[in-house]
This record gives sequence, structure tokens and C-alpha cells, in this order.
Amino acid sequence: MAPTPVHFFSHGSTMMLGEDSSSAAYWKQCGDEALANGIKGVVMMGAHWDASGDAIDVSANPKPEKSPVGYVHPSKYVHYQLNPDLPTSGKVVKMLQDAGFNARLNDKFDWIHDTFLILIRMFPNGCPPTTIVSMNAYYDPHVHMKIGSTLRPLRNEGYLMIGTGGAVHNLYRNRWEPMVLYRDNFAQLRAPEKPMLEFRQSIEDCFTQQRGPALRRSITRLMKHPDYRHAHGTDDHFMAACFIAGAAGDWEDLEQERGVLGAETWELENMCNSQYTIGKWPQERTRTGILA
Ligand SMILES: [Fe+2]
Repeated sequence: MAPTPVHFFSHGSTMMLGEDSSSAAYWKQCGDEALANGIKGVVMMGAHWDASGDAIDVSANPKPEKSPVGYVHPSKYVHYQLNPDLPTSGKVVKMLQDAGFNARLNDKFDWIHDTFLILIRMFPNGCPPTTIVSMNAYYDPHVHMKIGSTLRPLRNEGYLMIGTGGAVHNLYRNRWEPMVLYRDNFAQLRAPEKPMLEFRQSIEDCFTQQRGPALRRSITRLMKHPDYRHAHGTDDHFMAACFIAGAAGDWEDLEQERGVLGAETWELENMCNSQYTIGKWPQERTRTGILA
């Protein structure tokens, strides 16, 4: 079958789970399309789980708990049933090991909002079988790109690959007062700072103007962007972009259209939650996105 689309989603603050936004609407649209096309399961890399040393962990807890989600009423997530896909976890570990990674199953890992926030928004009526792949704590962009390229064949089997991180995500540069004092995460009392706007534009240029191996080169190179450290105070929320560039940046992907910016939501003045999709479903109507 034709390779499934891939998504790089920016999950933003925890309040993106509880508050409606154009990004949340886009996540739901992508989930609806995935279900309509009969996905076999979801394979995700998030931004809140890394393995130390040279390891890569893969979720294998048959009954994972959900970590608490700050600033969100528990009714929004406590009853949502997670659906760990243990057979696919084993398959993912084997694929990674065959490619030379020190990959291993982790049967203790409890899920974190970076992944289940997206799953709840995409699939509110039930979580598809899902596998979570950890980052590696060295945060090497090329390693994470290679994880994505190694798992790319899963797209031909009907799995939906998602990276959930952030386009511009620097907690040290956010303006937290409106959220902490008034629960208003969307307040933009001032314009975002210039480095955030510059880096946000560079990510858009990469995902929407580059395809195939050029996409892999351009995304991994963004860690050398002069504004990278302004946009990402830590590297954790950028690794999922590298993972997705690997999953979507094969020579075969040159046959697909360029990526689409489906939605974008600014939070806390300086955090840019851009939502990108590369590739299309076979019968998909023209993707226009939900820009607001
Ligand atoms: Fe996060």
C-alpha cells in the first residue's frame, strides 16, 4: 500500500488538552482521516521520555498509567483508555536492533501528556493500538532522524507515524503569568520575540519547501540555526521533528507533495504550536488545513 501520511505535531502546554483551538480541530481532522483509512496502529515519538546511555526504549507496559496533566480538569483525560500495542512494540524493537540501535522493551513506562494529549484529541472515541518510542538523551538529531527512517517501512503497512514535540518551545522564554493567574494560555499580551518568529519560519520553510532526503538534511541542520537555542531552551521538543523527517524523507517521498502547515496556535507569547503533515491518504480531499 501507499505510505501513510506522517505528522509533526506541536503539543504546546498542557492546557492544549483542555482548551479548544485550531490545532485541536486539526488533530481531530487528522484522526478522523486516519480512522477512515483503516490504520493498523499509531507509532509515536514524544518529547518527555528519553533513554540514557546509547539506549532507545519502546513502550511495553500492558497497563500504563497516565501522568497528571497540570491546569487541565481530570475529567478531560482520566477515563480515556490507553491502548498499548505490545506486538508492534516487539516488532519496533526488532527493526531498531536490526539497524544497530540498542533498543529494548520497557514494561514499566507510564504514558505522559505529550502523547496521550494528542491521542485524546485525535481519537476521542477510542485510542488505536499505539506504540511509543523514546528519545535518546544525547539528543543527536541524526540518531533521531535514523530512528524515523528505520521505522519508515511501517508506513507501508498502515501504521500512522506521529512526532509530538514543538516548533518553538522554550519554557524559559514563555510568559506564564496569564496562564498561572487567569488560566489563559492563549493570551498574547505582546508580540512573540523576533528569534521565535525567525525559527518558526525556518521550520515552516523546511517542512513545506523540502522533500525527500533534503527534508532530512534541512530539519537536522536546524539545530545549527542561529536562533535555535532561543526557540528551544532544551532539545527534547525538537527530536520528534527529526524523527518525522526520517520517517518522511526517503527518495520515495519525493513522489509526494510538500508538507502542509495544517494549523498553528501561539501560546504564552513565545511558544509556537505548528502542526505539519507530509503525505496524503489515497482518497484524501485536498488538504487545506485549519489556519486561524
Ligand atoms: Fe511537552
